[in-house]
Amino acid sequence: MNIVDATQSGLPAGDTPMIKLVIESMKEEDVEMNGCVCVFCCREDFLIYGIVQSFHMQVFLAIAWFISKYELVRCLGISRLKLRCGNVMRTHVKDIYQRKFPGSKDRDFERPFHIAIQDKNAKSKFHSPLKLALVILLFGNLLALLYSQNVCHRNHVSHAVPLWIWSGLDSRYISHLDIDWDEIAKVIGTMSDENEVQEIGLLNFNKNEINHWKQLIPDAEHIVLQLDYVEKNVTWDTLYPEWIDEEQEEEVPICPYFPKIDMPRKRLDLIAVKLPCRDDVNWSRDVARLHLQLTTAELAAASKGYHPLHLLFVTKCFPIPNLFTCKELVLHQGNAWLYKPNLNVLRDKTQLPVGSCELALPFKPKEHGYSGNVYREAYATILHSADVYVCGAIAAAQSIRMAGSTRDLVILVDETISGYHRSGLEAAGWKVREIQRIRNPKAEKDAYNEWNYSKFRLWQLTDYNKIIFIDADMLILRNIDFLFSMPEISATGNDATLFNSGVMVVEPSNCTYQLLMDHIDKIVSYNGGDQGYLNEIFTWWHRIPKHMNFLKHFWDRDDEEEKQIKTGLFGAEPPILYVVHYLGQKPWLCFRDYDCNWNVDILQEFASDVAHWRWWQVHDSMSELLQQFCLLKTTHKAQLQWDRMQAQKANYTDGHWEIKIRDRRLKRCIDNYCSWKNMLKHWGEENSTENEFVHRPRVP
Ligand SMILES: *[C@@H]1O[C@H](CO)[C@@H](O)[C@H](O)[C@H]1NC(C)=O
Ligand SMILES: *[C@@H]1O[C@H](CO)[C@@H](O)[C@H](O)[C@H]1NC(C)=O
Ligand SMILES: *[C@@H]1O[C@H](CO)[C@@H](O)[C@H](O)[C@H]1NC(C)=O
Ligand SMILES: *[C@@H]1O[C@H](CO)[C@@H](O)[C@H](O)[C@H]1NC(C)=O
Ligand SMILES: *[C@@H]1O[C@H](CO)[C@@H](O)[C@H](O)[C@H]1NC(C)=O
Ligand SMILES: *[C@@H]1O[C@H](CO)[C@@H](O)[C@H](O)[C@H]1NC(C)=O
Repeated sequence: MNIVDATQSGLPAGDTPMIKLVIESMKEEDVEMNGCVCVFCCREDFLIYGIVQSFHMQVFLAIAWFISKYELVRCLGISRLKLRCGNVMRTHVKDIYQRKFPGSKDRDFERPFHIAIQDKNAKSKFHSPLKLALVILLFGNLLALLYSQNVCHRNHVSHAVPLWIWSGLDSRYISHLDIDWDEIAKVIGTMSDENEVQEIGLLNFNKNEINHWKQLIPDAEHIVLQLDYVEKNVTWDTLYPEWIDEEQEEEVPICPYFPKIDMPRKRLDLIAVKLPCRDDVNWSRDVARLHLQLTTAELAAASKGYHPLHLLFVTKCFPIPNLFTCKELVLHQGNAWLYKPNLNVLRDKTQLPVGSCELALPFKPKEHGYSGNVYREAYATILHSADVYVCGAIAAAQSIRMAGSTRDLVILVDETISGYHRSGLEAAGWKVREIQRIRNPKAEKDAYNEWNYSKFRLWQLTDYNKIIFIDADMLILRNIDFLFSMPEISATGNDATLFNSGVMVVEPSNCTYQLLMDHIDKIVSYNGGDQGYLNEIFTWWHRIPKHMNFLKHFWDRDDEEEKQIKTGLFGAEPPILYVVHYLGQKPWLCFRDYDCNWNVDILQEFASDVAHWRWWQVHDSMSELLQQFCLLKTTHKAQLQWDRMQAQKANYTDGHWEIKIRDRRLKRCIDNYCSWKNMLKHWGEENSTENEFVHRPRVP
């Protein structure tokens, strides 16, 4: 093992200077050392120790903390440490020590400095072989220590050590935010029952900050809350896995363990928590930040009765908006966020899994067990920018009613949806509400996703407590009213750590709407759509089974067996799936005879005749009046025929292009120009475009 470099990574303003030791040429089994406590150096009055933090390639990284020996001995319960330090190390450590501790009040220690230990570099700062030998000796000691069971409590770190000393020692939990105590004082001052603040719980503050608190509210009792850290191998990806075994065919998905807090015996009036907020784009996908917030919720939820309880978060970035809702936000000033939570609601939320690593709803939910508040719950969807989805929305409404739900159906439409189309939506059962579209400021002009942020308007439906949003290209095959019992945001998984915004439970709230709008210029959506944006705001979401938003899509990686299973699900009677999501070319935009996704190579992964047929069953159950909203435009008929001809030319083996079209809609015309055959003749041979044939809907 060679020590390549050891640099001080910039001393944080708090109590705990960090030293990064980067050591090369580790053996594979050394990985096992993750999480070990290591003592690097020990002297009479102080020592340096640390926890092995991570492995990266062949590099071993330990972050060491530096505290007085008295404290460490106390906290580790080690009375005698047989350790020697190398001279070089000691000099540097002494340096840190003098910078850090009283006497020198200057902020010198915030300057980065180096303990440069390099043995392969010619410019080594170790001028004599002796010093080099000492360094090697020192790290020999270190290595020995790592293997010694006395000091290396792998995975037991947090149990072996009282927590107060560790809080602030795990870099994931450290917040470098400089607290503005005047601001805190002001915010606390607005609490109406300020005089009654007798018990204050403090979580994740360092010693200086705790002293500040004591000065700020001297009459209260300050209870320093102790929390074990989450294991280092718990990342956001393990909390929000792309896939879990929902059916529990091979395993029972279990979320990683989040250490629980020891509940204080006292009844708290105020819980103050300092949350880290990393600067990068992923600040809201932060395990430590989540752990601290869930712990706060549990602390609050454990508080009995109607005793008023306030929560104060000290952080740059907004707390989880669907755990601590903006409705409950009493005051936000600078980095201080004061909440007065509804404890009953919070109690329910603490029962949820910590991430989407488990289903938040059983795979087989009780379908008739939920009654809810019928008048304050609604299904909702949105149509903007074009009317091609009108027929889809009508069929979706029909399917909801056929599945037995009597909840309100609310559809948001913009000005592009004509009065004629609105009348059809109303006839299908939708309550139509006109909205102003919301532009994605980051989208290209006229891009396909330019107006997708209009979905945020759902949060303005404040005459409802809960909304189940569904995309307009869906069929509800089984009643999903029980989803109204779920909190915001409950949804199915998409890819990576994200949810699919096609079916989601939303809790309308003007201030949440405002929150969405406030960050519209800052937050970037990975796909420019609402799904990407909502996933940045609501990173804490709850997984419902895929059967509640089942994509009509066959992956490349699906083998024949998998395809058979999916096809079986689409066709099952009585239905097994709750909701089918029609991706690709929509069924009402194909002739009813077969799924036209077969005729276009890039759409073939969406082709399923069985799912297609399922949609048409619902269509056929609709009244003549409603069916009229599903007629095809002349250009679209020409397009379908064109695709069919291309498939014929390419001689696609599925052979759907050979099927004769019997769909009656082929012969029904809603445009001024009706000959799709003539239209087709022009295509491909000249530069004439479909624009020649202006098609205006002929209102019946
Ligand atoms: C993390 O490591 C522990 C053992 O150290 C193991 O039990 C646990 O399953 C691991 N968790 C994850 C999410 O890999
Ligand atoms: C953000 O976090 C996700 C999930 O852990 C990860 O896949 C992604 O690469 C991260 N992005 C950045 C820019 O760090
Ligand atoms: C939300 O705002 C709208 C006006 O924008 C208002 O009509 C409605 O009453 C508000 N809802 C609540 C619950 O305050
Ligand atoms: C934007 O909305 C349209 C129509 O609702 C939808 O087809 C499209 O997939 C959405 N795009 C994104 C990126 O969300
Ligand atoms: C189309 O494919 C079939 C078999 O898949 C073959 O018998 C036939 O000759 C092909 N036709 C053309 C025109 O290539
Ligand atoms: C089609 O347009 C191209 C240039 O855009 C032109 O060169 C060509 O002559 C046009 N053909 C016909 C049949 O108009």
